[in-house]
Amino acid sequence: MQQTYETDSPARAIYEDSVVRQFAIMAVVWGVVGMLVGVVIAAQLTWPQLNLDIPWLSYGRLRPLHTNAVIFAFGGCALMATSFHVVQRTCQVPLFAPGLASFVFWGWQAIIVAAAISLPMGFTRGKEYAELEWPITIAIAVVWVAYAIVFFGTIAKRKVRHIYVANWFYGAFIIAVALLHIVNGASMPAGWMKSYSVYAGVQDAMVQWWYGHNAVGFFLTAGFLGMMYYYIPKQAGRPVYSYRLSIVHFWALIFTYMWAGPHHLHYTALPDWTQSLGMVFSLILLAPSWGGMINGVMTLSGAWHKLRTDPVLRFLIVALSFYGMSTFEGPMMSIKTVNSLSHYTDWGIAHVHSGALGWVGFISMGSLYYLIPRIYGRTSMYSVPAIELHFWISTIGVVLYIAAMWIAGVMQGLMWRSVNPDGTLAYTFVEGVKATFPFYLVRLGGGLLYLSGMLLMAWNVWMTVMSGRSVRAPVPELAPSHA
Ligand code: HEM
Ligand code: HEM
Repeated sequence: MQQTYETDSPARAIYEDSVVRQFAIMAVVWGVVGMLVGVVIAAQLTWPQLNLDIPWLSYGRLRPLHTNAVIFAFGGCALMATSFHVVQRTCQVPLFAPGLASFVFWGWQAIIVAAAISLPMGFTRGKEYAELEWPITIAIAVVWVAYAIVFFGTIAKRKVRHIYVANWFYGAFIIAVALLHIVNGASMPAGWMKSYSVYAGVQDAMVQWWYGHNAVGFFLTAGFLGMMYYYIPKQAGRPVYSYRLSIVHFWALIFTYMWAGPHHLHYTALPDWTQSLGMVFSLILLAPSWGGMINGVMTLSGAWHKLRTDPVLRFLIVALSFYGMSTFEGPMMSIKTVNSLSHYTDWGIAHVHSGALGWVGFISMGSLYYLIPRIYGRTSMYSVPAIELHFWISTIGVVLYIAAMWIAGVMQGLMWRSVNPDGTLAYTFVEGVKATFPFYLVRLGGGLLYLSGMLLMAWNVWMTVMSGRSVRAPVPELAPSHA
């Protein structure tokens, strides 16, 4: 029997949750699509014949489709759903300008569809994570500014004096992404779907990786930390471990990220001191990253036993373990001597996916499992055993994926640099490729498991929506606390 969480109350102000529902559902849909494309390209790397000699399905075109779909469609919709949910609850007011929020939803979906069409057709700016051609880039800027107006407008009309820390992280994510996107997106059109960057040579590379690294720092990290600071305390039923630490965490993280970009350009034409500066800031970044992780994990103090029975909490906490792991690995990889081994190898892909699958994926899934039943008038998802199964399938999937890529990466690095006594290379490139084959198979297996988990989630969400109803949750009259 369905249990009701919140009730209709026409006399009181009502939270604007329709846009939250729309974004939450689309996060799941785009998650399935983006991960499916990930599995397809993993299979193409294993068996290149799967390119099928069809240009639209070739690896070079599907790879950016994968990255755009998982980061901006899956991650973006999860961030927008949760930020709109969190900002209303923590400010205790309905969203500012709900019509504009609806525009943000439809605009963002239109941009995703435009990406899904234009990338396989081969239109690209050739900048990683900023591939979309200029008309779409302009549309992103417009929708993003609308998103900022809705979010900050809601903060401005809040009934609670204090701005809860989750909003600081979401706010920094929104402002930084606008800045990064507009600066790195500046280009000179040379036709309807062709443009050239306004920067040239090494400046262009520097701007691109200032953007690229901060896309990691603000899109893939700060926004998701916003989720952490709201949904972990909620699910654990405990206050944040140290509110003071969360403030230090915030300022230290956003200040440090901005300087670390050059670690993507080690041993290039970038001035050497810039590379070293990037390395030093990346090493410093370990401290705020781990401070934040510890703050999240320690929020469970006194509630550790809940991990045994609550798969949603497990998603959220294991996400933090992966966050800790990838933010330890990242600073190590930024050390120039380590980077000389890891760069160009699958070690980088292992690092990316321990962050992406383990951190971004898990924290989003945990937060959506908390959020979706509540906005559909239920106390929990349709099937809790299905969440449990999802957790285990995807955990095994991530471990297989990243372990295979770590081994493959270190092996490739060592093979490429080993030389015979006479100075000639000990291995040809193709020998490295052949040695990698079994690891690509394991990665594909891991990816398939992770995708199966996501499909299970999609089924569970569908059943939850079908057996629930769209709730019109009333805004509380008195503001008891910040969360
Ligand atoms: C079923 C799950 C997934 C599979 C099988 C998968 C597979 C892949 C493959 C095969 C590549 C190309 C690797 C290469 O060029 O050697 C890739 C790249 C990438 N994927 Fe995934 N992926 C998955 C999920 C995700 C998710 C959820 C995210 C982000 C939230 C993500 C982010 C990325 C990024 C950023 C890259 C580019 C890495 C780079 O350029 O260094 N992936 N993925
Ligand atoms: C303290 C935090 C981190 C530091 C210092 C760091 C550092 C690094 C370094 C040194 C690289 C390799 C650059 C290269 O050789 O080209 C890299 C690549 C990457 N990292 Fe991290 N990382 C951190 C956290 C994360 C997290 C949490 C994620 C994901 C959620 C992530 C996503 C990526 C991606 C997508 C790339 C590939 C970029 C590309 O070449 O396309 N990183 N990171």
